[in-house]
Formats: sequence, C-alpha cells, structure tokens
Amino acid sequence: MYNKLINKETKLSLIGLGYVGLPIALEFAKKIKVVGFDIKPERVDLMKKGIDPSNELTSDAFKNSDILFTCDPKDLKEASFHIIAVPTPTNIYNLPDLTPVLKASETVGKILKKGDYVVYESTVYPGCTEEDCIPVLEKFSKLSVGKDFKVGFSPERINPGDQNHTLTKIIKVTSGCDPESAENIAKIYEIIIKAGVYRASSIKVAEAAKIIENTQRDINIAFMNELSLIFNRLGVNTFEVLEAAGTKWNFLKFYPGLVGGHCIGVDPYYLSFKAKALGYHPQMIDSGRFINDSMGRYIGKQTVKKIIATGMNPNKARVLVMGITFKEDVTDIRNSKVVDIITELTEFGITVDVIDPGANAHEVHEEYKLELKNQPSGKYDAIILAVSHREYIKFEEKWFSSFLNKEGIIIDVKGVLRGKINSHPYWSL
Ligand SMILES: NC(=O)c1ccc[n+]([C@@H]2O[C@H](COP(=O)([O-])OP(=O)(O)OC[C@H]3O[C@@H](n4cnc5c(N)ncnc54)[C@H](O)[C@@H]3O)[C@@H](O)[C@H]2O)c1
Repeated sequence: MYNKLINKETKLSLIGLGYVGLPIALEFAKKIKVVGFDIKPERVDLMKKGIDPSNELTSDAFKNSDILFTCDPKDLKEASFHIIAVPTPTNIYNLPDLTPVLKASETVGKILKKGDYVVYESTVYPGCTEEDCIPVLEKFSKLSVGKDFKVGFSPERINPGDQNHTLTKIIKVTSGCDPESAENIAKIYEIIIKAGVYRASSIKVAEAAKIIENTQRDINIAFMNELSLIFNRLGVNTFEVLEAAGTKWNFLKFYPGLVGGHCIGVDPYYLSFKAKALGYHPQMIDSGRFINDSMGRYIGKQTVKKIIATGMNPNKARVLVMGITFKEDVTDIRNSKVVDIITELTEFGITVDVIDPGANAHEVHEEYKLELKNQPSGKYDAIILAVSHREYIKFEEKWFSSFLNKEGIIIDVKGVLRGKINSHPYWSL
C-alpha cells in the first residue's frame, strides 16, 4: 500500500473535509494523489476555489496539491486508503450520535475493494471502530475485515486556533487491526507527520488514548471551575490564587472558564457512555461535565446579582456580551457555552447585545436564533468579556467605560482584564 501510494498508482481518500479532514487531505496531497470527499456541496465548491470553509487554512495551503474535491462517492473508487474524519457529536441527551460516522462507513463500504484500508480519525469511545463501524463496512462491502480489507484508528490531536501545534508537528498515534496493517498505517502517516508516529498496540488503545486526553483536560478545568465557585464565596480572585500556586514547579497550569466546542465538552460523554454500557458509573468524568456545563448559567446569575445590587431592575438592564465562539481566536460557534450566559440573562428580562469579531452572523442566527451586532451601541449596565479574542484583550478600561453607565459592571470571564479595571465594579471567575 505504501509503495502504491508513493508511486501514485493508487489514491488516498479523505471522507469529511472539516477542521480535521481538510488539513490532512492537503498535507497528503503534497506528496501523493488524494480524493477529498464531503457531503456538503457548498463546502466542496469553496475548497475547489482554494477556500477553507472552516477559516483555519489560508489559500497557500491549497497550492501544489494533487487533490480532487468531490461530492460524488463514485470518485472514492479510485482510492485504496480511506481516512474517515466526520463529526462525532452528542445528541440532546448528551449521548453519542454515531450517525455521521456510520453513514461515512456505509459510503466507504459501498466502494470498498479487496486490499483496501480504512482508517478512522473521528474521536470515538474505545470499541466503537470494531463494534460499530467495522460491521457497517463489512455489510456494505460484503468483504471481511482482516482477510479482505484492513482497518485502523488514528486520532487527530490538532487544537483549533493554534498556529503552533499544527498537524505535521504533532506526534500521531496510529493503530491497525493486525501487526501488518498497524505498520503500514504508521508508515503512511510518516509520509506527512514530521513529529513522528507512535504505534499504539491496538485500535482500542488508540481510541482510548485520544478520549482520555480530552477528558483529562475537561476534569482539570472542572476542578479550576469548582475552585472558582469556592473562591467567589471567599471573596478571593481565583486567577490571583492560581498565579501564586503556579510558582511551584509541579502545579498544573489550568484555568477556570467555559468548556464548549465539539471536543473537550463532548468527548468525555463518549467515555462515560461506554463506561456505563460496561456497568460502571464514572463519577469523576460525570462530575467534571456537570461542573463545566453549569458555568455559563452561573456567570449569568452572578451578572444578574450584581445588576440587582446596584438597585437596577433587570427588566430595564442592557448587557453587552463580547464573544460568541466556543473559544478565543476561532470562528466556530458550535456548542458555545456563551449561549448559556445569554439564556440566563434573557430569562431575567435583561436585553442582551452580542458582538464577535469573527463569528458569522448568519450561522449565529441559524444555530441560536440570536442577532449578532456589528458593534456596541449606547450605554450598557454590564459588559461581559465572554471570549478573550485577541482583538478584545487589547482594550483598556476607557474603551469599556465608553460603553458603560457610571455604575456599569465588567464581567471578565477569563480574568484577562485583571489589574486594568479601576473605576467600575469588576468580577471574574
Ligand atoms: N476540530 C478539531 O479540532 C478536532 C480535533 C481533534 C479531533 N477532532 C475530531 O475529528 C472529527 C471531525 O471533526 P471536525 O472538527 O473536523 O468536524 P467538522 O464538522 O469540522 O467537519 C466534518 C466534515 O464532515 C462532513 N461530513 C459529515 N458527515 C459526512 C459523511 N457522512 N460523509 C462525508 N462527509 C461528511 C461535514 O460536511 C464536514 O465538512 C470529530 O470526531 C472530532 O471530534 C476534531
């Protein structure tokens, strides 16, 4: 397989060209022939013009790449090494929604030939590739795994908005369904990954490794959020405490905040689901999720309390929320926990204006039925710096003052304005 790909006798395909799939497809396309497949024609049309619909890559990333962008599954027949990178969300009950990954498995199953490889990159619970996906591949291809085709799992570790830890600079964990496929898959990723490849001993180990990376972050952030709830009652600033504790060499550097998006806020639910299916009720993981999922409402309540304390009727109050994306310096609004803050405020009758330098107003309306404003207007009773985008952290107190009433409150979710605010009531997590 390796030689055939390198000699351009066959192609590699990418199924799902989002934040994860497109960079991988383009990186491979610098070295070998690639078919990039996605079900969304509008996204494929943009990519054909050298535009990344997820706004992560510049047009330079598309240069010198041997890639066919397509919505036609028949084009996948030209490829023998298929990588699946479709979303793995949760449903409204926070249970895994495997629909995209199973649909993609069906698409690949229908074009699968003897000798082909299928590698999953989507984050899933341990066991999902073998128990849920392979049966679909076998059903639609009428072929047998191991004998006729090989399967592997290689989780993606990129971090949205992070320009330093990019795909080729992150060690890639790979695995296969037998020793031969494990080695071949590792060698094929070595074509593009400069940081090197770690060969996991099995598909389940590779799946579990990825899910615990994000679960560990979730639990650590939940601990910081819990500390913030305690320190708020104590009247102590959490960031000051963390700065002091952080002077010890082995104190871990995590901070309180909102945990949204489609990775850290979602993946622990996959692990928890699997644990429960095995008869174990995970307490640490579920507690972490509970705390982190409650933070948006908590910040909203703190804001309302402070508004009421100034003698203002919430029904007459106006609040500006700065930032709607799920984290700083990205345009992705999916599973943004800022929405929980806004919901809490509006339930108290507060009028809320929302701004964001990168989010798409149409998407915000589609997803949350919220009208994104171009800029603040008039005076507000509170400003919530919800997402510390690089554009926002530059602002000095006078910028905030120009949009605040005299008694106006500044709510600084991530503590980035600490030490800068002197003439307004100030609160941070
Ligand atoms: N975004 C990240 O930073 C990141 C990091 C590590 C891991 N992951 C994981 O990688 C996977 C993909 O995430 P993403 O952020 O790239 O998602 P995404 O939503 O950005 O992109 C997914 C793409 O798949 C397409 N798609 C959906 N169903 C399809 C199907 N059946 N066939 C073909 N294409 C289909 C969508 O149109 C979209 O273009 C998820 O499991 C995610 O948890 C994401």
